[in-house]
This record gives sequence, structure tokens and C-alpha cells, in this order.
Amino acid sequence: MTELAARRFDGRTAIITGAGSGIGRAAARILAAEGATVVASDIAADRLQELAVELGAFDVRTVAGDVTREQTVRELIDAAAGRVDILANIAGIMDGVLPADEVDDATWQRVFDINVTAVLRTTRAVVPLMRERGAGAIVNIASEASFRGSVGGAAYTASKHAVAGLTKSTAFMYGPQGIRTNAVAPGAVVTGLDVSWRSEYGAARTGPVLQATMSAPTSAEQIAGTVAWLASDEAANINGVILASDGGWSAV
Ligand SMILES: NC(=O)c1ccc[n+]([C@@H]2O[C@H](COP(=O)([O-])OP(=O)(O)OC[C@H]3O[C@@H](n4cnc5c(N)ncnc54)[C@H](O)[C@@H]3O)[C@@H](O)[C@H]2O)c1
Repeated sequence: MTELAARRFDGRTAIITGAGSGIGRAAARILAAEGATVVASDIAADRLQELAVELGAFDVRTVAGDVTREQTVRELIDAAAGRVDILANIAGIMDGVLPADEVDDATWQRVFDINVTAVLRTTRAVVPLMRERGAGAIVNIASEASFRGSVGGAAYTASKHAVAGLTKSTAFMYGPQGIRTNAVAPGAVVTGLDVSWRSEYGAARTGPVLQATMSAPTSAEQIAGTVAWLASDEAANINGVILASDGGWSAV
């Protein structure tokens, strides 16, 4: 690896949501180690604090809060102090694999608030700063559920399809302004995500299909590596892509 490639994010500022666990945490480690000032955010203040201690040698600023709240988004922008080169929208939740006739309004709303609306809000907040500089990279986390109906419940599946749409719209709108927007669509990843079934019917429908088609679960580091690559100049010509990182699951 060249010296240049080893420090892909020198001088850059990255906002990472969901940095307290799993993929977000792994992404914070990579970006900080490769030179970025990292604004790390999560609703879990204790896990965020652990991350800050672990990455104490680097420039890591923490914002504890619910990313669905405008106040949290404002705090993220404040912590970035006027410069955002990278936005990684990683915070997300599952839905208990509830099918349409079992999903309650609260689950539907919460899944959409976190998985979709928060992604729009952070994007809305950083785009003006990126446009001013004529550069920026936004990386969203989609899912295998962005491609198929057999991975999550109604809310999760619809929300991750929406993430794919928002990614493409943002890519199309701001590509000419130097802002690249892409998404990583992971298959199964070993993280803290609650993937338990809350519906017998949902389990009976999805379980056998998952067992027959799903690739072996990968690590958060593997997905975070793809997030970092999409955020880096190595992916300068990539815009509007929903990039599967699923061990081939989506090829089944
Ligand atoms: N783990 C998988 O198999 C898998 C597969 C496909 C997609 N994904 C997606 O990857 C992303 C990251 O999930 P993960 O697997 O690392 O799970 P995780 O639970 O380990 O990490 C998600 C983090 O997001 C945080 N978060 C949740 N709600 C929040 C809110 N309202 N405000 C701020 N932070 C909040 C959580 O506290 C947690 O630290 C999610 O968008 C998820 O949908 C995961």
C-alpha cells in the first residue's frame, strides 16, 4: 500500500451515524485511523463514550442523541465546525420481520423515522456545505432488503427500498456539484442489530428462504471497508450505486 493510500482521509471531516456499534463503529475506526476528523453519533451515549476512549489518539468528536431529532442533526453540523467531506448514514433498526397485516403503526413509524427520514435530514443538512466546496461523499446503508421481499418485514423492506431511492435521487441531483452519493447493501453481518422474529408467520415465510439463499454472515469491518472505499477518492467515478456486499446473495 502506498503512503497516500494508507491515509485516504487526511484533512477530511466525516459524520458517521450509528457509530456506537457494528458497522458504524467499524467505519469510525477506519476513517479516524486514516486521518479523518470523525463526528461520531449514536443514541447509545455509553457505547459512544467507549468509542471515544478507544479512539482517543485520533480527532473524534461525539454527539449522543437520537438521529431522528433535528436537534441532533444540528449538533452534528456544529461539531463538524463548518466542513463536512463525508456523511455516512449507518444508524438503522430492524422491524421484527412483521408482515403487513401484523405491523403496528409505532414500529412502522420508528423504522421509517430512523432508516429513512433521518437519512434525508442529515443529507439535507450537509448538502449546502458540500455544494459550497464543490465536493463531498455520502454513503448510506441499504440492505439485501433493498432488493428482495424475503429478508425483513414490511417496514424494514420498504424503508431499505426507500434508502435506495433516496440514494439515487441525491446522486442524480448533486452529482454535477461534485457530491457523490452511494449505498452499501450488506447481506448478513455480525453486529448488535436485533434480527429476531416477532411474527410466527414472518418467521415461517422468511426462515426457509434465508436458509436456502443467504451467504455466510460477514464482519462489520468488511462492510465498513466498503463504506470507506465509497467515501474515498478511489471511488471518484462512482455515483448512485447500490453496492451489494453480501457474499453473492443477490446473485442467487
Ligand atoms: N447487521 C446486518 O445483518 C445488516 C444487514 C443489512 C443492513 N444492515 C444495516 O446496517 C446498519 C447498521 O446496523 P448494524 O448491523 O451495525 O447494527 P447495530 O445495532 O450494531 O448498530 C446500529 C447503531 O445505530 C444506533 N441507532 C439506532 N437507532 C438510532 C437513533 N434513532 N439515533 C441514533 N443512533 C441510532 C444504535 O444505537 C446502534 O449503535 C443499519 O442501517 C442496518 O439496517 C445491517
